[in-house]
Amino acid sequence: MSETSIRAMAAHDIDCVAALHGACFEESWSGDMIRRVLGTAGAFGLVARPADATPVAAFALGRIVVDECELLSLGVAPLQRRQGLGAALLDAAIARAATLRARRFFLEVGEFNSAARRLYESRGLRIVGRREDYYALTGGGAMDALTMRCEPVLPARRRAAPPAAESAPDARRAMSSRS
Ligand SMILES: CC(C)(COP(=O)(O)OP(=O)(O)OC[C@H]1O[C@@H](n2cnc3c(N)ncnc32)[C@H](O)[C@@H]1OP(=O)(O)O)[C@@H](O)C(=O)NCCC(=O)NCCS
Repeated sequence: MSETSIRAMAAHDIDCVAALHGACFEESWSGDMIRRVLGTAGAFGLVARPADATPVAAFALGRIVVDECELLSLGVAPLQRRQGLGAALLDAAIARAATLRARRFFLEVGEFNSAARRLYESRGLRIVGRREDYYALTGGGAMDALTMRCEPVLPARRRAAPPAAESAPDARRAMSSRS
């Protein structure tokens, strides 16, 4: 994979992010909605692009409230998937949460969204709840959402620590809270 560039979402990215959101989700968010989300306390946005492409190809929106970080949305342009952009953005959002001392990182994901579920599982998130009929489907009906969470919030470099490091107190805490 070519190197991914990630930076904070800027005002001039919002139209592009709204278009990406529309390409990723049935219920799309307008630029105004994204602006409103970014205007709430603790909210943050990230955008990513592969090194060999100029336009922003992926985005993440999150919010940190006290000691919890919620991933509000994550999307990658359909033609840019499976290149690591989603994972890189998720890692960046988790790293931000860890830096700002969030103790929990959580999100909602459609129960049949196997791509996203695998991505989140690969980063240590586990299913902790279910919200019935959470997502409306365009053809009618609704899909349940699963709440996935990791606690504590460990950035990628600490999750990937070699086994020897697991005797450190922090790592022991991480292992016991995930079992
Ligand atoms: C989910 C999504 C963000 C993944 O982004 P991506 O850039 O394609 O993901 P990555 O290339 O970083 O993949 C990382 C890991 O996620 C998992 N994964 C991603 N796409 C997958 C797929 N189609 N099938 C199975 N596993 C998948 C794999 O474990 C993958 O690791 P691998 O490539 O080493 O096997 C992207 O598919 C997307 O935007 N989907 C539509 C919007 C959405 O559902 N967002 C999440 C809402 S909760």
